Amino acid sequence: MAKTYAIAIDGPAGAGKSTMAKRLAKELGYYYVDTGAIYRTVAYFLDLLGVSPKDVDGVERYIDELTVGIEYDEEGKQHMLMNGMDVTDEIRTQDISQKASLVSAHAVVREVLLDMQRDVAKAHNVIMDGRDIGTVVLPKADVKIFLTASAEVRAKRRTEELLAKGQKAVYDVVLKEIQQRDYQDTHREIAPLKMARDSVKLDTSDMDIEGVIAAMKKIIGEKIPL
Ligand code: DC
Repeated sequence: MAKTYAIAIDGPAGAGKSTMAKRLAKELGYYYVDTGAIYRTVAYFLDLLGVSPKDVDGVERYIDELTVGIEYDEEGKQHMLMNGMDVTDEIRTQDISQKASLVSAHAVVREVLLDMQRDVAKAHNVIMDGRDIGTVVLPKADVKIFLTASAEVRAKRRTEELLAKGQKAVYDVVLKEIQQRDYQDTHREIAPLKMARDSVKLDTSDMDIEGVIAAMKKIIGEKIPL
């Protein structure tokens, strides 16, 4: 099999991972893999069944009944399939963000999803974003970037994004939720959010999108022929 390249982008919620990764994937002709969407699909499925994301027995009982699918449309947009049903838009709520964070802490959930993420990277050049891509999913990724920003900046960006989508959002509430998610994602036992030793940290608090893209391209260009 031909060599495939992998770029791992990790960082906390709202750091701009998906915005940057989508842009770069388009420019480089790579697949963009949003791994958060996979955990969101699991959370959405359990939510529909009325299973609490904290209920480990319930999660273990029902996880086998879910088949998560990832498909790409002709524009390269990632679609999430829950037992064949497209739930790409349904999983993008603040409620599901919180539930995905809780559900992703269970060992059984992470195990089930690990191979599926690795398989995509085996078959394609990928830019994959998440929390544990550089540390656990693709420890041998060619490039690892840790994208971060202050909680306040991330909350501001996330509030604007939600409002632009027509959803209700209040800055103070979004900030609290982001801080709670940061805590959960960094303190869980299995595959917590942390920077890989060989990752390059980029704090985007005072940067605009173009600045971040340029900085990321520089980091990537040092490791991969662009
Ligand atoms: O990136 P996101 O906000 O869509 O992710 C939702 C939640 O999923 C996040 O709070 C933690 C979990 N997640 C994870 O545990 N590991 C990943 N690689 C990606 C997301």
